[in-house]
Amino acid sequence: MSQKPKLWISRALFPEWIDSIREWADVDAATEERAYSPEELKRKLADVDAAMVGLSDRIGADEVAGNTRLKVIANLGVGYNNLDIPALTAAGIVASNTPEVLNESVADYAWALMLAAARRVAESDRFVRRGGWKGSAFTAWLGPDVHGKTLGILGMGRIGRAIARRAAGFSMNVIYHNRSRLKPELEQEVAARYVDKQELMRASDFLILIVPLTPESHHAIGGAELALMKPEAILVNVARGGIVDELALVEALHAKRLAGAALDVFEGEPKVRDELLAFDNVVLSPHIASASAETRRAMALLAIENVKAALGLGEQAGHPPTALNPEALDHRRAD
Ligand code: GLV
Repeated sequence: MSQKPKLWISRALFPEWIDSIREWADVDAATEERAYSPEELKRKLADVDAAMVGLSDRIGADEVAGNTRLKVIANLGVGYNNLDIPALTAAGIVASNTPEVLNESVADYAWALMLAAARRVAESDRFVRRGGWKGSAFTAWLGPDVHGKTLGILGMGRIGRAIARRAAGFSMNVIYHNRSRLKPELEQEVAARYVDKQELMRASDFLILIVPLTPESHHAIGGAELALMKPEAILVNVARGGIVDELALVEALHAKRLAGAALDVFEGEPKVRDELLAFDNVVLSPHIASASAETRRAMALLAIENVKAALGLGEQAGHPPTALNPEALDHRRAD
């Protein structure tokens, strides 16, 4: 009988799933979340046929140099800025991500943050907990309405469109900017109007960022962009920390050139800048936009399907369903 392939799982997965994974793989599964150094990653990856990794595991040419065993890396996330895809392809390693299954949950969460920042949910929760509520104050705790306002979306991929669709229930005017304009029928479906980036910055009462992090989108929102925003506007980032120049954001908040922000992602996460912690009008969360009970399970399942398929196991053998570089398989076969 041939040996089972070896799988390393860098993130703490649902423990009740591990036994069923053991039926087809020899599993080394993390039981708690932590950061791995490049050397540790290299060592871990050298010893396995497959890996399921998280967004903080940065894997490129150095981490797979000389690795002839590893066949697949399944990223537990839709964004894959942590993976150097050309380097993995050159090494004959298939990479996969988790698109589609998280669209609606991330959209829900973007709305949760927008509403929380506008209506001061987190701030008032802190106030009640510290015993600050001594009596009603009719004119206190005022925040802007969300309904009827202009929602700007930077990035109109699948998640952006799910965010836009929700705006109909709030009678919002939706504008968006994206690298490429949507087809007219899609624009109609989500009732969103394409504008250039400057108009997006100027006209949005709420601006939600949901673009992939690439060298081009790094600091897409910097001092110049923030200066265009209305002082009553609220910025929501559910994309990647690197999309926003955090120092410029801190400056804009200090100068009250922006009414508030809601951030699920940070440039140096899990570290959050002290300056951001100090603002009461900034809602902070630990990169959890996709963390609904159903969606995190769907993401893990999709990652497992990709691993199995890339290892030639299961019904989709040889065809990982959401491979980012399926050509890596041919690369390997040709060797
Ligand atoms: C989360 O940030 C993801 O990319 O899935």
